[in-house]
Amino acid sequence: MTSLLQGVHHITLCPGGAQQDIDFFTQVLGQRLIKQTVLMDGSIPIYHFYYGNADADVGSIATCFPYSRKAGRAGSGQLSCTSYTVPNGAVTFWRDHFDRHHAEHSGVQERFGTKYLRARHPAGLLVEVIEERGDGRHAWTTKEITKDVGTRGFFGAVLSVRDAREQESFFVDALGFRKVGVDGPYHRFEVPGTGPGRVVDLHVEPERTPGSWGFGAGTAHHIAFNVESDAALVKQKALYEELGYTDASEIKDRFYFHSMYVRSPGGILVECTANVPGGFYQDEAPEDLGTKLHLPPWFEDQRAAIVSQLEPISVPEENRPRPGTTTAPKPVVAPRAAGDEATIPVSHSKVTFGADKQTT
Ligand SMILES: [Fe+2]
Repeated sequence: MTSLLQGVHHITLCPGGAQQDIDFFTQVLGQRLIKQTVLMDGSIPIYHFYYGNADADVGSIATCFPYSRKAGRAGSGQLSCTSYTVPNGAVTFWRDHFDRHHAEHSGVQERFGTKYLRARHPAGLLVEVIEERGDGRHAWTTKEITKDVGTRGFFGAVLSVRDAREQESFFVDALGFRKVGVDGPYHRFEVPGTGPGRVVDLHVEPERTPGSWGFGAGTAHHIAFNVESDAALVKQKALYEELGYTDASEIKDRFYFHSMYVRSPGGILVECTANVPGGFYQDEAPEDLGTKLHLPPWFEDQRAAIVSQLEPISVPEENRPRPGTTTAPKPVVAPRAAGDEATIPVSHSKVTFGADKQTT
């Protein structure tokens, strides 16, 4: 079958402390903080950080809800590792780099004939750098991480499941992936097509205790795949329902894109997204991405209440682009014209962020 999917859009994780997360992603993983906003569900103010490559490309975006108010339980039924591509030969740099930052890592490993190295975020989350030739996306660079070793964007993700069968049916029949191989406990699936960021590895762990599903520090929350348009989101929702996955959500307005979620058979929450005009550049200039807190328009009147409940953070100065570090912004959908509203019904929550929700 054909797939409505184009590849990974973003991967969403729950670290613990906000500053700890910024420090790890920007200093240790060499990502660019490209957006500071907040969780758009519920009435508890939680940051939502977006980290990406030099061009903030779709398919390079890890998004984080620092959720220090509650610990999650890592286990099966979760995305267990976020995978980034690096150039051939770069894993030895990353081994030494993780050592310098005292980040726990796996040492150089291999699966499907490719070298990779897995490291642990301070909150317990796993990330890996995997060598892939021919990924032309632009790495963000730091004083320590140069463009010849930096991460280009996502290779994909590893998902832990106790049994592959139903999850395989979901990926193949509902999402249009094709199965491309098995290497030990890993079953590999790809979105048909070309370009990076199209791989999911199911890691079959029959004895692993199921992990938590809600927000909780130290766990991944979901993986999102991009589709071309709002119309494709509607088609994907109809396909889910036709196949019996009737718990697909309504289509939500996430301001930077539109989203629709479904809980997959192995337990992993799967989102599909459609980009909206302007994307990440709707509310800040390319050179300012990630430098201050942006709220969706429907939360702006509660800015003071929201900010008062968030951990103060500082963003490293080197997060600002330097000459030659980014190319021209590439919004995947043309900027929105005045009065140009969404073409399908989308929902968003409007709640009160009361002081009684203050976290400790
Ligand atoms: Fe998401």
